[in-house]
Amino acid sequence: MIIRVQVPATTANLGPGFDCLGMALELHNVIEMVPTSRGLSIEVSGEGAADIPRDESNLVFQAARSLFRQVGFAMSGLRLRLLNQIPVARGLGSSTAAIVGGVIAANLLTGGKLSIRELINIASSIEGHQDNVVPAVLGGVVVSVQSDGEIKYLKIEPPNGLKGVVAVPDFALITKTSREIIPAQVPFQDAAFNVGRAALLVAALQQGDLGLLGVAMEDRLHQSFRSPLIPGLKKVLAAAKLAGARGVTLSGAGPSVIAFADSNFELIARVMGETFRQNGVKSRVMVLKPSP
Ligand code: HSE
Repeated sequence: MIIRVQVPATTANLGPGFDCLGMALELHNVIEMVPTSRGLSIEVSGEGAADIPRDESNLVFQAARSLFRQVGFAMSGLRLRLLNQIPVARGLGSSTAAIVGGVIAANLLTGGKLSIRELINIASSIEGHQDNVVPAVLGGVVVSVQSDGEIKYLKIEPPNGLKGVVAVPDFALITKTSREIIPAQVPFQDAAFNVGRAALLVAALQQGDLGLLGVAMEDRLHQSFRSPLIPGLKKVLAAAKLAGARGVTLSGAGPSVIAFADSNFELIARVMGETFRQNGVKSRVMVLKPSP
């Protein structure tokens, strides 16, 4: 038996929605899982192939083992084949894809006993926050919060014609580092600023009002604090807007930057790459559709 699961990249926060908004993107990791009589073997190709561990510290394996334990499955051996397209530690949900892929594949291998909701809860508790996890499982744009240890969520369809132009710097940024740099407290006015933008953004995405994205994607809770970790961030954000992006933001915890647009994709891509380069950062730029 071969279990094959495809998990999309995700971009979290979408600007103001820190830890509560996320979108799935048309870029995928594929996880193949085969039960064997003994031992663990892991084959990795594509993004991160040189660095991803092949032992029990592998995140796909850890997520799968966590599910096996929850459903009381005694695993004898496992073979994993990971075909990765999602850049590692770049703010595009590579660790989420590993966790979600491991959990979903393990659930299928053990007879599909757990519901989507249970899988989301397990994957989110491994990841520590859910804003990448839920869109990685459901696709689309997802609003999600944690309440009493449960994840509450609603999915909305991404607007027609919207694409993400993603500039991916050639350096990794560990989410932990990027979270530790955010202060424990922010001024009330900044919290209120974000609440309004996050609400407006959800309404704008739902109604396809792309003209509002520029304002609706502004943020005061995380990006400016993270800016010292990403040379040129502010300039790349500004340049993408000038080139015609509807809204632009750090993708998740960074260092990638995502600009949302419905035209001028090539110009926006070129300008983002060039602006990073002028600030001493090599990057590659991809134009990605939302994953439905
Ligand atoms: N919401 C999280 C953060 C996403 O910004 O830290 C990390 O992937």
